[in-house]
Amino acid sequence: MKNTTASFVEMKRTGERISMLTAYDYSTARLIDESNINGILVGDSLGMVCLGYENTLSVTMEDMIHHTRAVARGVKNALVVSDMPFMSYTNIDDAVKNAGRLIKEGFAGAVKLEGGAKVKNQVRAIVDAQIPVMGHIGLTPQSINVFGGFKVQGKSEEAARSIIEDAKLLQEAGAFAIVLECIPSDLAKIISNELYIPTIGIGAGPGCDGQILVYQDMISMFSSFKPKFVKEYANVGSIMRESFMSYDKEVKNGVFPGEKHCFKIEESIINKLY
Ligand code: KIV
Repeated sequence: MKNTTASFVEMKRTGERISMLTAYDYSTARLIDESNINGILVGDSLGMVCLGYENTLSVTMEDMIHHTRAVARGVKNALVVSDMPFMSYTNIDDAVKNAGRLIKEGFAGAVKLEGGAKVKNQVRAIVDAQIPVMGHIGLTPQSINVFGGFKVQGKSEEAARSIIEDAKLLQEAGAFAIVLECIPSDLAKIISNELYIPTIGIGAGPGCDGQILVYQDMISMFSSFKPKFVKEYANVGSIMRESFMSYDKEVKNGVFPGEKHCFKIEESIINKLY
């Protein structure tokens, strides 16, 4: 079944949970799409897990378009959502223009941007331009320099109320879903109950309408940092490392390539070449 922004809202209405993962390339997107995952986010986390930056702030529109196109080519059924990079939506004109590029050049089905009250006008303008928007509140990694690190948000009454308010404003502005990142589970449950659009949690507990993880995190391919909310579903990182080490050994001791990896030529022809 093809997933759409409308099917996400319908899943919320019927109480069916939504699964999402990130992806940044064609072959991973294909594998995820074949696994019945409802949505794929081409997150600006690509800056950290693919490009090796310390945070997401250096990711450009060109990076996002390049990776979103690759993902979109691998996807048949999942909804492809593309992240708007840092500083690409500081005003309404830039927001609409850059969201449009992610759809027209990246072939995304929707865009995601970070923030609540401060970006509500941008969200409304993008939605008015017929581009579906996913919101993202709580720990918003593009604000890392303001937060002073990757820290759980919404723990005080004031902070919790402000996140609830942000969620309502995003819904009012026309967002079709909202990512809740790193907030207390009970707060995420209250927000999810108050909205008719789905919440997609990451470090926000089981009370959200759906969940998302960075795929390298849940299969242990990214070893620089492992957040508490990540569950390890497989240790692909060690399988890869072991495979690379075996390959290295076999190349160096002449075991690889073996007979079955080689192409043949008729002996009469080869003899003429000597
Ligand atoms: O960039 C990203 O991968 C994200 C998810 C963590 C939600 O925004």
